[in-house]
Amino acid sequence: MKPLRLAVLISGTGSNLKVVLDACARGGLAIEVVQVISNRADAGGLQHARQAGVNTAIIDRVTASECGMTQDQQVAQCLRERQPDLVLLSGYMRIVGAELVDEFAGRMINQHPSLLPRYKGLNTYSRVLAAGDQHHGASVHFVTAELDGGPVIAQVRVPVLDDDDPASLAARLAPLEHRLLLAVLEVFCSGRIQWQDGQVLVDHQRLHKPMRLDHDTLLS
Ligand code: GRF
Repeated sequence: MKPLRLAVLISGTGSNLKVVLDACARGGLAIEVVQVISNRADAGGLQHARQAGVNTAIIDRVTASECGMTQDQQVAQCLRERQPDLVLLSGYMRIVGAELVDEFAGRMINQHPSLLPRYKGLNTYSRVLAAGDQHHGASVHFVTAELDGGPVIAQVRVPVLDDDDPASLAARLAPLEHRLLLAVLEVFCSGRIQWQDGQVLVDHQRLHKPMRLDHDTLLS
């Protein structure tokens, strides 16, 4: 089976990227990470990519304007050159414009630290705590023009504890989010998931609600 060609867009520490690269190195994932793009030169994730021998690019407003392009246009050009099967936004702290979303419709997914559709946007941990929710979680969803609004593929939940603060909640969610990402990528590798006219099909059935992670297995 040909490995899935994955491009990853990051802005920060890249712990999710590292988990993917490690799984690939162990032979546990039929994926080739063909490109990592960061909009920040100081993103820690770039180091993980370089250590794994993956192509990296820093694309920001300055690099784009030097080429007479918008940032999204330069990202699109870079992606076109690498021909990924799937583009993962992994802590990419930029809103992706409609043109780029359209070009990669059905081939672009995003990770978000909340149980979407709840808590789109930033600071999800403090917002969950302020609301007094009993659960928090993470989602992986297809990217559409609506911020954090595309169809959700899968989620993982974590209980909120009485003495949680945003940092403790984030620390407890992170390893689960990593496992969620690997499980979702496995579903892509196996070809079990399709995007058809804005809808998600898993095993040829329309996905009506997100799959949920249970002991590293995604359940419908
Ligand atoms: C993750 O929590 C992801 O959901 C959010 O940004 C974080 C990225 O973390 N969009 P890292 O850079 O992979 O450590």
